[in-house]
Amino acid sequence: MDALRIRGGIPLHGEVAVGGSKNAALPIMAASILASEPVWLEGVPQLNDVDTLSLVLGHLGVEVKRQRDGRLKLETVDSRPTRTDYEHVSRMRASFCVLGPLLARRGRAVVSLPGGCQIGDRPVDLHLKGLAALGANIKVEHGYVVAEAQRLVGAHVHLSGSRGPTVTGTANVLSAAVLARGRTTITGAALEPEIVDLGRFLKSLGAKIDGLGTSTLEIEGRCELGGGGYRIIPDRIEAATLLLATAITGGSATIGGAAPEHLGQVLEHLRRAGADVQVDGDRISLSARGRPAPTDIVAQPYPGVPTDLQSQWMAWMALARGRSVIRDQVFGDRFSHVAELKRLGAKIERAGDLAVVSGVERLTGACVMASDLRASAALVLAGLAAEGETVVRRIYHLDRGYERLEGKLRRLQAQIARAPESALEDLAQPPSIITGR
Ligand code: EPU
Repeated sequence: MDALRIRGGIPLHGEVAVGGSKNAALPIMAASILASEPVWLEGVPQLNDVDTLSLVLGHLGVEVKRQRDGRLKLETVDSRPTRTDYEHVSRMRASFCVLGPLLARRGRAVVSLPGGCQIGDRPVDLHLKGLAALGANIKVEHGYVVAEAQRLVGAHVHLSGSRGPTVTGTANVLSAAVLARGRTTITGAALEPEIVDLGRFLKSLGAKIDGLGTSTLEIEGRCELGGGGYRIIPDRIEAATLLLATAITGGSATIGGAAPEHLGQVLEHLRRAGADVQVDGDRISLSARGRPAPTDIVAQPYPGVPTDLQSQWMAWMALARGRSVIRDQVFGDRFSHVAELKRLGAKIERAGDLAVVSGVERLTGACVMASDLRASAALVLAGLAAEGETVVRRIYHLDRGYERLEGKLRRLQAQIARAPESALEDLAQPPSIITGR
């Protein structure tokens, strides 16, 4: 297992480009099961989650190959397999996105239920309710969802639960409905840019979908879809993570190849907290000086501030000139970073789905570890600002969802390096000893 060593206190400067969106690429890769001809995807990031899904698709008879030009080619070479095992779905929940496409294209899907998750309760009842409304016969047996339908039939499906619409649930039902007989209306659909991207991909294969980007989707089912090339949108969470890394170090940097239109509320909050943010086409420049103004956020479904940025925002607010309240309306338990940020000197109190952050003047380096992807990113950000050295352990979480994050941070002048945990003999030592070397 690797760790990241970070020497904090160095303002970030320079320019770096973001990669393609993880959360757009995964459901689009899964939806390639629907295609009757090969699919070429541009902009699929090189991530462990992409490798895991490639493995899952491989078991399902879809050959996934990275081309020399970086594109990913996906081609169904055997359309008989219909089963995805617990081993894969437990490693990555997004594997569950194969359920809708498999059912629609092959008439049967046996997919393990995802089970527990580090960021709280993540049921899939809406996915199942939606597919059942399209006529699927669904049973849960021995930890697996067994879904069957000779041909799905268009229907009205509502996909919003008590905490808002479901993102991958919308992906599953939308991907199934494009091959159903007749018209499907999805209400309470997720508005996330990643769902719009999936819809555009499906349309590029020949699907008929109206209303993308709104909460009502109208789908006219087709008998068959084709194949072809498609480019994935830029990763808005990666872009915002890099902007926050710049802000927390009081630096000045430009993030290129981004989609600022997907970051409206995030950019607004960055400005409110005192950063100077300029947008020029696909480039976002940020400069920040000193401690931020305390700024409350509520993580919400799109177009709200994403839950996937809640922990990184908290890292910044740990240094604010006062008290801010951070609430997560999507995943009310997504606070595993709190205890680790406290180890770096942050003052944070938790109460239900919110955290009250009382800004401190400085953070101090320590050895920390995170148990989920975005929490790990928050610790890296805090380490970039903390005095002395911070070691972030168990960074395999980070590698699941960020494409060489430390490389991009280094391009912005950060002092950050990867090392095997086994090579860090002094990890158990107090931070002052690590710092003093
Ligand atoms: N929900 C239900 N029933 C369902 C599905 C969801 O009640 O059947 C609830 C959830 O418990 C949650 C809310 O609805 O409170 C939203 O969950 P959603 O289904 O939208 O989340 P997801 O589709 O499982 C995706 C992203 C997450 C991101 C969330 C929210 C992918 C692969 N994953 O998850 O990304 O946090 O949407 O935006 O797209 C990450 O990238 O770090 C990550 C966790």
